[in-house]
Amino acid sequence: MTGRTTSRSLSLAAGSLVLRDFEEGDTDGIHAIVGDDGVTYWLSFESRSRDEAQSMLDGILERQLDTPRSEYYLAITESPSTEVIIGFARLGLMGVKAADLGYALRPEWQGRGIARMAVSRMIEFGLGDLGLHRITANIGPMNTSSMRLVESLGFQREGTIRDHVHTNGAWRDSVSFSLLEGEWPPAAE
Ligand SMILES: CC(C)(COP(=O)(O)OP(=O)(O)OC[C@H]1O[C@@H](n2cnc3c(N)ncnc32)[C@H](O)[C@@H]1OP(=O)(O)O)[C@@H](O)C(=O)NCCC(=O)NCCS
Repeated sequence: MTGRTTSRSLSLAAGSLVLRDFEEGDTDGIHAIVGDDGVTYWLSFESRSRDEAQSMLDGILERQLDTPRSEYYLAITESPSTEVIIGFARLGLMGVKAADLGYALRPEWQGRGIARMAVSRMIEFGLGDLGLHRITANIGPMNTSSMRLVESLGFQREGTIRDHVHTNGAWRDSVSFSLLEGEWPPAAE
């Protein structure tokens, strides 16, 4: 897809970060995340080639035009440039005032509190600007850093979704977490 112009361009400031809509030309940035086995091991899909990353980006750009929007799939960047993509955060809207949360960082940017800052901003956006009632996060049972992150942000563990995703050649359970309006910000914030 070339020469596409989108009528949408969301940009959310979060401390030193900017969460922005993906744009044409972000193929390498998104591929650096979804093409990395160390990242996708923890996700619900397997590593993608550059062509597959391009298709993924095309889909994201297409869905940016949905009215109302079906998702907010945002690139995590550092201000002021916002060109280098260090991760993504996504709210997929579903049902009534509900959304599913997803996120990932490039390995070299993990362990610095960046995911916490970015995900906090997405939650504020979801509960505040979008008026959501409920945000869910479904996390692999071995993904301790992701579970620690959502629990630190006030999410409550709901239970296990058995054989929830098929990834890396096998079925994988998910541990389901949720955050309801009124539970944000968490007490320690
Ligand atoms: C899940 C994931 C996004 C978490 O990223 P992260 O950078 O570890 O998360 P945080 O932003 O919460 O950072 C926490 C770590 O940074 C450290 N840190 C450093 N400075 C910090 C700061 N200013 N504030 C908070 N934490 C800070 C913390 O001590 C903590 O380290 P620890 O995990 O060793 O205890 C990341 O591991 C990832 O992308 N994984 C692969 C994809 C994935 O699993 N996605 C989620 C699928 S459900």
